Amino acid sequence: MMMLRLGDMAPDFEAETTDGRIRFHQWMGESWCVLFSHPKDFTPVCTTELGMLAKLKPEFDRRDVKIIGLSVDRVEDHRLWAKDIEETQGVALNYPLIGDGNHLVADLYGMIHPNALDTMTVRSLFVIAPNKTIKLMITYPASTGRNFDEILRVIDSVQLTQDFKVATPANWHHGEDVIIAPSVTDEEARQRYPEGWLAQKPYLRYVHEPSAHRH
Ligand code: BEZ
Repeated sequence: MMMLRLGDMAPDFEAETTDGRIRFHQWMGESWCVLFSHPKDFTPVCTTELGMLAKLKPEFDRRDVKIIGLSVDRVEDHRLWAKDIEETQGVALNYPLIGDGNHLVADLYGMIHPNALDTMTVRSLFVIAPNKTIKLMITYPASTGRNFDEILRVIDSVQLTQDFKVATPANWHHGEDVIIAPSVTDEEARQRYPEGWLAQKPYLRYVHEPSAHRH
């Protein structure tokens, strides 16, 4: 199995989901995607994670990001468990879950880390751009629920920095100043940012977030 890296093409696959059978790339269409794995149905941390993602779905929709989850459980179990998620988290599942009993997708994406968690998927997450390249990969242990606000924050940064020649500083959030990309000369920056910028160092130049960003 080849290890996936940032910039690689996200592998395509066919799978059963709670919304029927899908071919992944076709299902994504022209949207962005968060593909994530969780270890097991009917477990506590996973229940909170899937509920949190359902609550945050409008935020993903606003960024044109489709969500799809996965574990090695059966689709029928996902459907049964969905009732518990709704009951305990106060929100119904509103995105599909893949039943990956044969580990096809988990193996393609390297989601099983046997030295950490025998045969279950760990908490892997991939952000995939409309051109199907991988923009973010994170892996959390089974005992730690993910921070999905951080995923939205990274998506904001990735979508902004692909549209403009900027980068975002540590802990940046949408609306805060950004950094002019090192590849942009001062001459080019003068044309792009006629109102000027704050240079703390020649290589550390802050400007307001470009306003054409979609949020
Ligand atoms: C959980 O979701 O709580 C969990 C799942 C598998 C192993 C450990 C914790």
